[in-house]
Amino acid sequence: MGSVPAQPWWRRAVVYEVYLRSFSDASGDGLGDVGGLRARLPYLAELGVDALWVTPCYPSPMADGGYDITDHTDVDPRFGTLADVDALLDEAHALGLRVVVDLVANHTSEQHPWFRAALAAGPGAPERARYFFRDGRAGGDEPPNDWVSAFGGPAWTRVREPDGRPGQWYLHTFAPEQPDVDWGDAAVQQAYDDVVRFWLDRGADGLRVDAAPAMAKKPGLPDAGHGPGARFDSRRWTDSPHWDVDDVHAILRRWRAIGDGYPGDRVFVSEAVVRPERLSRYVRPDEMHTTFNFDFLIAPWRAGPLREVIDRTIAGLRPIGAPPTWVLSSHDETRHVTRYARPQPGADPAAPDGDAPVDLELGLRRARAAALLSLALPGGAYVYQGEELGLPEVEDLPEEVLQDPTWLRSGHTVRGRDGCRVPLAWSGDTPPFGFTAPGVQPWLPQPAAWAVLTAERQRTDPDSTWSLYRDALALRRQLPGLAAEELGWDADAGADVLSFRRAPGFRCLVNLGEQPVGLAGRGRVLLASGPVSDVLPPDTAVWLATDGRRPDLRSP
Ligand code: GLC
Repeated sequence: MGSVPAQPWWRRAVVYEVYLRSFSDASGDGLGDVGGLRARLPYLAELGVDALWVTPCYPSPMADGGYDITDHTDVDPRFGTLADVDALLDEAHALGLRVVVDLVANHTSEQHPWFRAALAAGPGAPERARYFFRDGRAGGDEPPNDWVSAFGGPAWTRVREPDGRPGQWYLHTFAPEQPDVDWGDAAVQQAYDDVVRFWLDRGADGLRVDAAPAMAKKPGLPDAGHGPGARFDSRRWTDSPHWDVDDVHAILRRWRAIGDGYPGDRVFVSEAVVRPERLSRYVRPDEMHTTFNFDFLIAPWRAGPLREVIDRTIAGLRPIGAPPTWVLSSHDETRHVTRYARPQPGADPAAPDGDAPVDLELGLRRARAAALLSLALPGGAYVYQGEELGLPEVEDLPEEVLQDPTWLRSGHTVRGRDGCRVPLAWSGDTPPFGFTAPGVQPWLPQPAAWAVLTAERQRTDPDSTWSLYRDALALRRQLPGLAAEELGWDADAGADVLSFRRAPGFRCLVNLGEQPVGLAGRGRVLLASGPVSDVLPPDTAVWLATDGRRPDLRSP
């Protein structure tokens, strides 16, 4: 095997998402923490990822799992200390792992000193200018406009003024405990510059920009045209006054300029759920380096839609030179083992989370094939903790343990995201499976059935999902074909098959149909997501070494 040409690390990095609350608990309180993550760093190095993205560990009342922050430059005692984070950075770097931290700049916690000061100061006070305080309509009793919250209901909440009377309203794109800051305010801009510098100075290799499209609002805060009961649907909105407004990009450029002043290839990745054709704007050369690809995540397990997303992603990013990313799961989405365990939708890609019964064996088979697909595509990839164990969504959490604000805000109709956030199963035969100290209840209960899915078991089983990820990640580092930035589709593959080449000498074949596909003449099997012979069974993917000749690459 040849050597892989040098590129900035982030152009093809595999980044492992650590959802800190649910990763590993060292303190024994049932909540994951920085100490737990430090203890597991060798596991991540052995798995073979390049970097970690660690979700917020900042002081927080935890109204939204830590995405409601009271101090962006400190660590919540439940998660550890700043010294723990410094040690985490050092230890990760010593193992060759980069660390990306979360930057939540659209909103603070309602307990943030700024917001408390704003409430105390009353209408018209300069303290209110850091947020969006407005008078209500209809004599003050109706919200100032029709904007909706991502967690359901109106995006406005009315406050009680210092004199005790109902008063102004404030804007919150997410939960009421997460007031949006006003990026038109110079103090806000300056404070976040300092936050970015604070983490880069400490040695973070990058920042993941939370809810990037929310950060700018159209001047005057005009109505969006949302009818009564409208749902938040930012992938479909055009010209929204509160999402993907062009002024967002000035903020991203500001941070990029700061990051570029640091040595060592620091990286910004944006979370931007926008219309597909608007995504590339977030990764223009002076903005974010990469952005999550949610279109890939929501595509159904069907060859046509997947190929379309892959082509659209690559074609959209090529002119600006940004690398694609491939994402299958996150702490905000139903785990893909479960998504793929349901009948796959035809026209509406948003539907697989419905109530259809699950076939988890099928879901896992597809998830394993999807892993080989996503890790064979040009660009970077994200692995959400637990997907290397093939964990399914926990769909039967008792209602009384649900904590996602979506559950409350939807009037107990949308269960929300807790089912993908159940703490990891590390070892042993019974909960808490090594996640926390024996006898301690994790913050969400783990299914007893996870006894067969623990990391401990899977690491010694060559056929496990863990071993598949480890082998794929190792090959990905070694194979020169996987370092190339282009792919070429095989024209003769058939409608239910994804078959593409990466030069030199690599082919990936994924069978999404119902019939086996012949492998003769396609190459030598390097890795397969399930048993293969001279045919590739349905819902299976394979990596092949081809003869090494440079295939002619057709542009997608
Ligand atoms: C992002 C986070 C999500 C959080 C939201 C509000 O979407 O990934 O978990 O609830 O932002 O901060």
